[in-house]
Formats: sequence, structure tokens, C-alpha cells
Amino acid sequence: AEEVEESLRSPICCIMGHVDSGKTKLLDCIRGTNVQEGEAGGITQQIGATYFPAGNIRERTKELNADAKLKVPGLLVIDTPGHEPFTNLRSRGSNLCDLAILVVDIMRGLEPQTLESLNLLRRRNVKFIVALNKVDRLYGWKKSKNAPLMKTMKQQLGYVVDEFNKRVEQVKTQFQEQGLNSMLNYENREMGETISIIPTSAISGEGIPDLLLLLVQWAQKTMVEKLTYVDKVQCTVLEVKVIEGHGITVDVVLVNGVLREGDQIVVCGSQGPIVTTIRSLLTPYPMNETRVKGTYMAHREVKAAQCIKIAAQGLEHAIAGTALHVIGPNEDMEEAKKNVMEDIESVMKRIDKSGEGVYVQASTLGSLEALLEFLKSSDVKVPVSGIGIGPVHKKDIMKAGIMLEKKEEFATILAFDVKITAEARELADKKGVKIFCDDTIYRLFNKFKSYIEGIKE
Ligand code: GTP
Ligand code: MG
Ligand code: NA
Repeated sequence: AEEVEESLRSPICCIMGHVDSGKTKLLDCIRGTNVQEGEAGGITQQIGATYFPAGNIRERTKELNADAKLKVPGLLVIDTPGHEPFTNLRSRGSNLCDLAILVVDIMRGLEPQTLESLNLLRRRNVKFIVALNKVDRLYGWKKSKNAPLMKTMKQQLGYVVDEFNKRVEQVKTQFQEQGLNSMLNYENREMGETISIIPTSAISGEGIPDLLLLLVQWAQKTMVEKLTYVDKVQCTVLEVKVIEGHGITVDVVLVNGVLREGDQIVVCGSQGPIVTTIRSLLTPYPMNETRVKGTYMAHREVKAAQCIKIAAQGLEHAIAGTALHVIGPNEDMEEAKKNVMEDIESVMKRIDKSGEGVYVQASTLGSLEALLEFLKSSDVKVPVSGIGIGPVHKKDIMKAGIMLEKKEEFATILAFDVKITAEARELADKKGVKIFCDDTIYRLFNKFKSYIEGIKE
């Protein structure tokens, strides 16, 4: 029987880092799966979640003889993409996790998306540990399958240890340059402000026991308040997807509370609030990922923390990154509708009151917020007169076109990571509305910036 404390929920842990640092492979190593090799081009392009039950964690860490019992029922790990254009997904992951693993390739050190991830985590005040991955690539490294660190370190020859130490020092210096103290986990007894570095290999599994144990022990020691289970449903929409046999589904992360089949739910939609009923609650099997097709378990009810695929009618306009609300028996529907739309309304408030400004369109609420934030803090001070989520349609061109009479240079749409319909493109050309589009926030902004600067000259 699991010695699990009733009151704690599973911590939600996000795995982040630069392209090809080995995030997915590390999870594959823990799961005993091969998700990474099934990815197109070996690239992660979606958020995926995996549930690790306490039993599996105990099994994987038993060699460490950790007497500390597991108080959490498991660990919910969210994999994120490292490729630059997916800032929005990294941001969404870092938004809802309790803690994080920042993966650094020992052969490469800190890279651009390591820094970006680091800054996202710092901004959200999320505590993290560093997995210094690919230690098996050090010249002369002796592999020892799934071994704890101390055991594997003892086996290495002097020159390998020297090379290892040299690289660890380099990484520590790079963190220092970011204003962060870091230390190898077996030297870092306090785990306060100093970040723990855990050397790992996703290929030989070395250091994985240490990584898992540290995550769980650290979470249950320092995050008890955050991890204390509460009944009130706290749930975020991660993705909206079409799944064969289930129609349009939403992947959600249930942080607290219970979801049940037949529950009436309200979700924020781009065309207004969506009220619907949960038709089915699906999860992948434990130790399997949400992204892998055809392996779902159906449930009558699911308790937090868990990642769940919800099938229900009318979800096509649901907005990823917003809250999902369950209507209680005595709850006022109008109130609930108002509440779920608050996520989008707080963004609406950023629209310039003068009515003069550009039109901004993005794929999700999270990425829209990121773009608005970016515009606000940039050196080019540009007001925003309107926003939209999802593909750019004719109606968006019409709205942006209003500026043609007020301030022509603002008759512009900044389209971030969204498609532009052929009709919209045609209408824009006819009316003289400019569309700038890109799937990275930086490039999109630079395109727009050179346009604005061109006008000023
Ligand atoms: P993105 O999701 O695309 O950002 O990449 P990722 O960080 O998930 O890296 P991924 O798991 O796709 O691994 C990238 C490559 O590095 C693959 O070819 C892996 O087999 C390899 N790799 C990952 N971890 C290790 C490791 O510990 N040792 C060695 N030798 N190779 C590794
Ligand atoms: Mg990956
Ligand atoms: Na990859």
C-alpha cells in the first residue's frame, strides 16, 4: 500500500530548456518509453504531460535508501518544446507548474532558450533544479545503467572527473553571470537560494534516481502549503485538439479538485463563454504521455493533480491558457460565465482608450499577453486598439481598417503564430491594411519595428 498523505496533491513539474538538451529523452528514460524518436524531426512542438505514481518513483529511487517516505501521491510532469518559436508553450507550462527542471547540456552549457526559460521561471517565481544532462558524452565516461550519482562518480577515472569538474565550474560561472548561485546537489545541503545541479544521462539513466528523489523531497518539504489539496476546482486549458473518435477535445491540467463525467462546465471562448457538459474524461495510462495517441483510460471522475483530456460538445472556440470552471449545484450560471471571461477581459483592459492603435492577433491568450507585454516594454511605444485570438478573418481586417481614416500607419495587424485566411489576405490588400505575421515574437516585432521606423524617417 502507498504511504500517501491524504492532504497533499501531486506536484506539477515543468521540464524546460534549450533545443535538444534532452528534455523528452529524460522523460522517456523515466517512463521507459520512446516518445522522442516518434516526434517529427525529434522536435517537441506541443505540450505533453505524464503522471508518475509514487510507486514508480519509489522503485526508481530505492538504491538511494532514502528513508524519507513519499507524502505526495505522484508527480505530474509537463514536457515543453525548446525550439525558439514556442515561447508561448514554455510560458504556459511555467505558468501552471509548482516547480521545474531546467535541462542544460553539459557539453554546451547555457544557451539562448535556457536563458529564456530561466527568465520565465524567475518572473513567475517558480523554483527549479538543474539537470546537467548528457554526462555520458564526456570522453572516457564509464556508463552504469540507472545508477545513482555517487555510485557512478566513484567509477570514473581521474581525467574524466577532472573534465566533469571543469564543465560543472563553467556552468556555475554562467549561472553566476545571471545572478544565480548554483552547486552540485550532493554538495548543496541547504537548498535555499542556491540552485542544485544534478548531473544526468537520459541514455544510461545515471543520476535519474537522484533527480526524482530531490524533486519529490524538496517539493514536500518546502511547498506543503502550495501542495495541500483543496476541493475547489482549479483547472487550466492547455490545448484544444481534434481526436479521432472523440471530436474536439481540450487537454486540461487539473491543479485542484475533482472533475466528474456529466459535470457542467464553463470555458472561456473566443466567441464568448462556452457552457457544456463533460461527455468523457480521458487520461493516458500512468507513465504514458498525453501526446501519444490511442492509449486513453476513461474515468467517471478524476482527482487533482492530473492532466486530462475532456470530450464535450462546442469546444472548438475554447481558448488555450484560460481557466475551466465547474458549475456547482447552487451556482449562478451568469456569474460563472462572467468569471471565465475575466481572463480575456484583463487583457482587453490593455487596449488603448483613445481608440487609436494597431490590431494584435495571437494563437492563445498566453501568447497574446506575451505580445502585449512585449509591445508595452519595447522602445517603440505603440498603442493597441484591438485584439483577437485564433486565425485572422475578414472581420479582423475590417476592424483594423478603421484606422485608415484615423491614423493610417496603425491600420496594421500583428499576427503572432496564427493563420491568415485567403479572404482576409485579399481584403487586406484591397483596403491597404498591412499584415505582419510570424511565429516568433522577436521576428514579428522586428518586422513591425522596421516598418514604423521607416515611416518616421
Ligand atoms: P526539443 O524538445 O526539440 O527542444 O529537444 P529535447 O530537449 O526534448 O531533446 P531530445 O529529448 O529530443 O534529445 C535530443 C537529442 O539528444 C536526441 O538525439 C537524444 O537521443 C539525445 N540525448 C538526449 N539526452 C541524452 C543524453 O543524456 N546522452 C546522450 N548521449 N544523448 C542524449
Ligand atoms: Mg523534446
Ligand atoms: Na529534440
